[in-house]
Amino acid sequence: MKQVTVTIPATTANLGPGFDCLGMALSLYQTVTFSTSAIPGITIMAEGEDAHKIPTDCTNLVLKSAEIIFDKIGQRPSSLQIHQKNAIPIGSGLGSSSSAVLAGMFGANALLDSPFDNSQILQMATDLEGHPDNVAPAVYGGLILGVQAEEGLIVERIPVPPLRMVVILPDFHLLTSAARAALPRQVSLQDAIFNSSRLGLLIRALETADYPQLHIAMQDRLHQPYRIPLIPGMAEAFEAAKNAGAAAVAISGAGPSLIAFAPDSHTEIGAAVTAVFKQAGLNSRTWILDVDTGGASIQTN
Ligand code: HSE
Repeated sequence: MKQVTVTIPATTANLGPGFDCLGMALSLYQTVTFSTSAIPGITIMAEGEDAHKIPTDCTNLVLKSAEIIFDKIGQRPSSLQIHQKNAIPIGSGLGSSSSAVLAGMFGANALLDSPFDNSQILQMATDLEGHPDNVAPAVYGGLILGVQAEEGLIVERIPVPPLRMVVILPDFHLLTSAARAALPRQVSLQDAIFNSSRLGLLIRALETADYPQLHIAMQDRLHQPYRIPLIPGMAEAFEAAKNAGAAAVAISGAGPSLIAFAPDSHTEIGAAVTAVFKQAGLNSRTWILDVDTGGASIQTN
């Protein structure tokens, strides 16, 4: 009998102009325990945040991702118990699917005595997700720039000082596929320059916790202008967060949650955004989070 416990942080992808390449790990986690025993068969148990939305059959994402690893080395688990303890809201823009994919892959890898290293797991998870901006920070922690090059995936960890963020999740269903379908196929040269210049500035502003500069650096023209109208109250929520003291605001990942960066006034920002979503007819929930610097952790018992 073997037991492996994997903990994966939530992530916020894009951070405004870093569409599909920049992401940061957050202090909110999914922990999954994998056990093998003499009893044959696969069982899945889920508890915690959105547990009712987590399938416990063969469509479970943790299991499907674990099976990718087992398949790669030509094995099948004859006995496997998966126990998910989740704190990351599903479909929120906080990397819940990346956390499930990585939990499955790291868990299976550890059960198999680690045939793959972190960078190989990250490559497989990126192939599955299509982009590295959630999975890379979830593996390594902190702020990560992930560049998909012909030569392979380049992962650059950008050191950041402690930052505190407010995440407000409106009770609104927005599929990532719908949020991606809303984007234009082509963008103007001006918009490309707008984003690339701000991405450079953003990395610098986060490295130095330069809040006044963050205000400009987190602006984006590639995805947010198309996504904000999809979420009731989001345009007003951006304004409310700034008026309550946020230095910079972004849609977290593909949404629908909003993330605000501020040196203080986190509770006030959360309350202001909550009031705006309420006016738009949506209940919402708020988290005040820090940067996770540890990334994925794997414990074999
Ligand atoms: N970069 C992705 C997007 C994150 O914004 O669509 C969500 O998967």
